[in-house]
Amino acid sequence: MPEKKDLSDSAPASAQGYGGQRKATSDKMEKIVSLCKRRGFVFPSSEIYGGFAATYDFGPMGFLLKKNIEFAWRKWNVETRNDVVEIEGAIFLHPKVWEASGHVGGFADTLVEDLVTHKRYRADHLIEEAGIMENAGGLKLDETDELIKKHKILSPDGNPLSTAKKFNQLVKTHLGATEDDSTLVYLKGESCQNIYVDYKLVMDSMRLKLPFGIAQIGKAFRNEITVKNFIFRTREFEQMDLQYFCRPEDADRFYEEWKENRIKFYSEAMGFDKNNIKLRQHTAEERAFYARDAWDVQYKFAELGFQEIEGIHNRGSYDLDQHSKFSGKDLTYFDDQTGERFNPYIVECSGGFNRLFLAALFEFYREEGEGKDKRVYLAFPPKLAPYKAAVFPLLKNKPELVAKAREIYDDLRQHFSVAWDDRGNVGKRYYSQDEIGTPFCITVDFDTIEKDNCVTVRDRDTKEQVRVKIEELNNYLSLKLI
Ligand code: GAP
Repeated sequence: MPEKKDLSDSAPASAQGYGGQRKATSDKMEKIVSLCKRRGFVFPSSEIYGGFAATYDFGPMGFLLKKNIEFAWRKWNVETRNDVVEIEGAIFLHPKVWEASGHVGGFADTLVEDLVTHKRYRADHLIEEAGIMENAGGLKLDETDELIKKHKILSPDGNPLSTAKKFNQLVKTHLGATEDDSTLVYLKGESCQNIYVDYKLVMDSMRLKLPFGIAQIGKAFRNEITVKNFIFRTREFEQMDLQYFCRPEDADRFYEEWKENRIKFYSEAMGFDKNNIKLRQHTAEERAFYARDAWDVQYKFAELGFQEIEGIHNRGSYDLDQHSKFSGKDLTYFDDQTGERFNPYIVECSGGFNRLFLAALFEFYREEGEGKDKRVYLAFPPKLAPYKAAVFPLLKNKPELVAKAREIYDDLRQHFSVAWDDRGNVGKRYYSQDEIGTPFCITVDFDTIEKDNCVTVRDRDTKEQVRVKIEELNNYLSLKLI
C-alpha cells in the first residue's frame, strides 16, 4: 500500500478552512501551507468570501518564485537546446479540438456519491485509500462497484456509497450572446492541444525538420471531483509541456532519452535530491486513452509519499491522426530526402507547474535549532530565490546609515531582485529573510561609513558573515548567485 494520505474535499471551501483544504495532510504540508500564506507565496483565492474550493492566487513571493521556476524550465528545455521552440496558445480552442482529442467522449473519472451527505468522491481514490490496490484509475464501472461492495468501502464520513458513474472533467462555458449548443466551448482540459493544432504552422514558419520539440507553459482546467492537498490537485492549474515530434521508428529511442532527461531536469536544473525523484510506469489499464506507453515522474512529498508531478507519454500519431480526421486537413510531414509522407509520433513531457512549485517548497524547506534559536528557512538555489539579497541599515533612525544602505539597494536592484528591510533588529530581519529564502543579507553599519566602506554579508545557509567592499559587492553577489 503506498503512503497515500490525500484527503478528498468535496465540501464547500468555507467548511474546510484554508481555501478548500479540509485539513492539511501532513506536518510538513501544514507548515508549508501556513508559511505560504504568512509570507505571501500562495493565498486562497477570494478569501474575503470564505475562499473558493481549491483555487489559489500567487502572492508577491509566489509570483517571483513562479517566474524563476519557469525561467529554469525554459532554460533547460528550450534555450539550451537547438531543436525546441516555444509558443503561447489561447485558452479557448475550437470546440471540435476537444471532440477530436477524445476529451468530449473519454475524459472522465469514476464518481461515487455519499448517499447521506451527497458529497461526491473519486472512486479510485477511495479504493486506493482503503488499501485494496495501488492504482485503481483503470477500473471499469462494474469492477468498481464490485470492489466497493466486497470490501464494504464507505465514504470518508462513514456512509454508504452510490453505484459508480462516469463524470466528464471538461469545464464548459459559452462564448457569444446566447447560451445554447452553438456557443458551447470548453476550457483547455490539457494545455498541449494548441501545440498539436499549431504544429504545421510552427513547423512551416520556423522551417523545422524532424525531430523537433514545441514547448508551452499554459493553463489547464479540469472539473476534478475531488481536490486535494493545497495546490497539488486543483481545478485550474498550469502545465509545462514539451511535445517532441519524431519519426515513428525513432519514438522508442527518444522516449527513453526524455525519461532520462526529466530526471536530470529535476535534479540538475531544479536542484532536487535524486532520492526524492523516481519514475513509475502506468499499467495498461491506467494509461490515458491517447498513450502507447506512459510513465510518471514522481516526487517524494515527505509523509505523503511519492506522487506524480509529470507525465511522460508516447502518444504515437494519435493526436495528428485525429486532428487531421476531424479538420479534414493534411497534417503529414513530408520528408524531402525519401519522398515519404507520414504523421509524426509525439513524445510528450507534461509537467504540472503547481506541483513543481509545491515540490520546490517541500524540497527546500528547512528547520533548525530549538526554542528561541529555532529558525525556518527556504534553502532555494539562488536562481530560484524570490529575492537574491536584502539590504538593511543597522539602525533605521540614523539617517547616514539609511542613506548609504539606500544607495547600495538602488544600485543592486538594477541587477538583481533585492529586498529592503529596516524593521526591528537585524536578528529579526535575518529570520524574516530566511523564511522567504533570501540567500544573502547585507547590513550597513557604522564601520561602513566611518572606517572601511565595507558591508556585512550574511549567508542564509551557513549563517557566516563576511565583510565585503561596497565597490566589490555587485561582483561578489554575481559570482555567488550563479
Ligand atoms: N497532456 C498530458 C496531460 O495532461 P496528465 O498526466 O493528465 O497529462 C500532466 O497531466 C501533469 O499535469 C500531471 O503530471 C500533473 O503534474 C499536472 N496535473 C494534472 N491534473 C492536475 C490537477 N488537477 N491539479 C494540478 N496539477 C495537475
